[in-house]
Amino acid sequence: METKIFQSDQIEEAAALLRNGELVAFPTETVYGLGANALLAESVKQVFAVKGRPSDNPLIVHVANFSMTEEFVESYHPLTETIIKHFWPGPLTLIFKIKTGSLSPVVTGGLSTAAFRMPDNKKTLSLIGKTGAPLVGPSANTSGKPSPTTALHVYHDLSGKISGILDDGATEIGVESTVLDLSGDQPTILRPGAVTQEALQEVLGVEVPLDKHLVKESETPKAPGMKYKHYSPETSVLMIKPEDWQKAMEWAKAKDKKVGLLVTPTTANKYTSADCFVFEDDTIEAATRGLFSGLRALDEAKKSDVIFAEVFPEDHLGLAYMNRLKKAAAQNYFSEK
Ligand code: TXA
Ligand code: MG
Repeated sequence: METKIFQSDQIEEAAALLRNGELVAFPTETVYGLGANALLAESVKQVFAVKGRPSDNPLIVHVANFSMTEEFVESYHPLTETIIKHFWPGPLTLIFKIKTGSLSPVVTGGLSTAAFRMPDNKKTLSLIGKTGAPLVGPSANTSGKPSPTTALHVYHDLSGKISGILDDGATEIGVESTVLDLSGDQPTILRPGAVTQEALQEVLGVEVPLDKHLVKESETPKAPGMKYKHYSPETSVLMIKPEDWQKAMEWAKAKDKKVGLLVTPTTANKYTSADCFVFEDDTIEAATRGLFSGLRALDEAKKSDVIFAEVFPEDHLGLAYMNRLKKAAAQNYFSEK
């Protein structure tokens, strides 16, 4: 199968493929999604096959506007209107109770709830509109790889397996959306993202807890998908605390290990290495934008025995960054033993 790259003037062509049950990857502000018509169960099955994704991990239904959710949602949480007004379109996925049978179990993993998101990307909103149906969209990577933040990453993983990719350059945020469970009384964050816990609490005026399963990876998760390690670079990753950089570099030298660095410009100026991925600037936003791209680049270069990665405080966007970095590092920090 030839995988076509579509530009903005070819959205209609891409939509026709989706209507026809084929798979087209689409850009969002977070990461690229692997799109299929959410109303065609056979197409949705293909998404799992192409990614090599476990089929009990439910998908996000991407909509072009809030009213597209009404066909499926059984009841909305009282705070829904406020949330939508502030955060849609945007990197916030909402879980609602759905009407029985309104979505295929292939989409929901057989749950009585489903995840909805209106992405903040004009091309993709137009694509959904022209398709005339919502699109499921897990990240458009092969399972086990970092989520794709450029069309080229998607092409690298899935060329020959999907019909097309709608190209919109590099994504702005770089990690997947915040997942907020609104199916119970208390809104709960199941996955941290760029809509932060602090921002939600400020807007809603209530406490918005993080699901503790975020923290304890080994427990049985509330959302089936949360138990899977999302990506694991072949090169092992170690997180380096600010006070440990010097020691870590000395350790690597003593052990004759080649180190790849995934770091801010400030850290890059202090330490040299054959292989270095430097974030655009020292901010957490730049680090988050570069994280997956950097992990891919360092892993594919195969120049290093170990990747040393910059850590950030675990609040605001830093919580999302550290959540993804910890998974890539299998929770491992450098420690001198
Ligand atoms: O930013 C994003 O969210 C990207 C872009 C493409 O929109 N998509 C994405 O999809 O990250 P995916 O499939 O990789 O992540 C969906 C997450 C999974 O953790 C899944 O378990 C959870 O949402 N999820 C889906 N339906 C759920 C439900 N009914 N209850 C709880 N969690 C659910
Ligand atoms: Mg994913």
